[in-house]
Amino acid sequence: MRSLPLFAVLFLLSPTCAVAQHGQTDLARNPLLKNPEAVAAGAKLYGISCAGCHGADGSGGRGPNLIHALESSPLKDDELFSTIRNGIPGSDMPATKLPDDDTWRLAAFIRALTGPAVENEVPGDAVAGEKIYWSSKAGCSNCHAILGRGSGMGPDLSDIGGTRPLAIIREAIIPKKNDPSRNYELAGNEGVTVTLKSGRVIRGIARNRSNYSLQVVDQSGKLWLLRMEQVKELKVLDHSLMPADYETRLSSAEIRDLLAYLAHQSLRPGSEARDLEGPNQ
Ligand code: HEC
Ligand code: HEC
Repeated sequence: MRSLPLFAVLFLLSPTCAVAQHGQTDLARNPLLKNPEAVAAGAKLYGISCAGCHGADGSGGRGPNLIHALESSPLKDDELFSTIRNGIPGSDMPATKLPDDDTWRLAAFIRALTGPAVENEVPGDAVAGEKIYWSSKAGCSNCHAILGRGSGMGPDLSDIGGTRPLAIIREAIIPKKNDPSRNYELAGNEGVTVTLKSGRVIRGIARNRSNYSLQVVDQSGKLWLLRMEQVKELKVLDHSLMPADYETRLSSAEIRDLLAYLAHQSLRPGSEARDLEGPNQ
């Protein structure tokens, strides 16, 4: 093989070369993902070009709620890139035609907004939030367990930051008024009051309910396997057991710190947060 001068070899190995050869950068992966400066720059671009339709916090308006949309059907990096670049033909979603790097910055911000909370820097004091979580004022552990501590009645929160975007965690604690998706999330978490023929009253969450049997987890985490013939009265609550008054019960600083604590709850292997903020230390 003919040997090339050094500068030519360096050129062939450099990223510019990939651009030169293929006429475009590698679109499969966002090179700016989780880059804090890119995310911050993307947030600015979002405020200028997108917030008008998708809301300043992504919660929607003329365009859809991006957090809900991308949680239920995630877009790959290249799909997100081309959605931002080309818009969605036949819809209100316009093309942006921004340069590649700005398009990736926007995409990095959208990922930060819609990805698991633990992947982002979240404002607030997680250590203070931990105290609030376990306090009787908030009472979260009356219904939720983290790493085996607390009640098993409501959903387990040990991996909440590793699986849910911050905005979704916030919505669980401070529900939006008249949010239809909230009722939807009740499926599988119905609050019930069961009066047995024996006179015993059990309050908890129905895990499974058929015409013949009922399984209820009560606040102590005890699972009751009931046959309907034991049941005198079954009342199904039409609202969530999750209290809806935290916005007034906790200060905004307390909610911010609580969110920082929850954002750190992740079962991912090697998660820094796990080592630093484990409740058992
Ligand atoms: C004029 C209003 C408008 C503006 C401005 C706008 N969008 Fe949209 N966007 C929409 C609408 C409407 C849809 C839903 C289109 C459809 O699927 O019918 C949408 C869809 C999307 C989707 C796809 C969501 C999904 O369900 O997969 C993404 C991602 C998105 N927009 C991001 C952005 C970004 C980033 C910007 C700023 C560069 C932006 N949009 C600007 C109206 C807008
Ligand atoms: C009386 C019981 C109860 C208390 C107290 C309670 N929750 Fe909940 N929580 C629930 C139930 C039940 C759900 C399931 C969804 C629903 O019913 O809305 C839930 C859902 C959640 C979710 C969403 C979980 C997911 O997988 O998406 C989060 C986050 C959450 N709660 C956090 C908290 C925090 C933080 C506190 C304390 C500030 C708290 N909860 C207090 C019962 C409770």
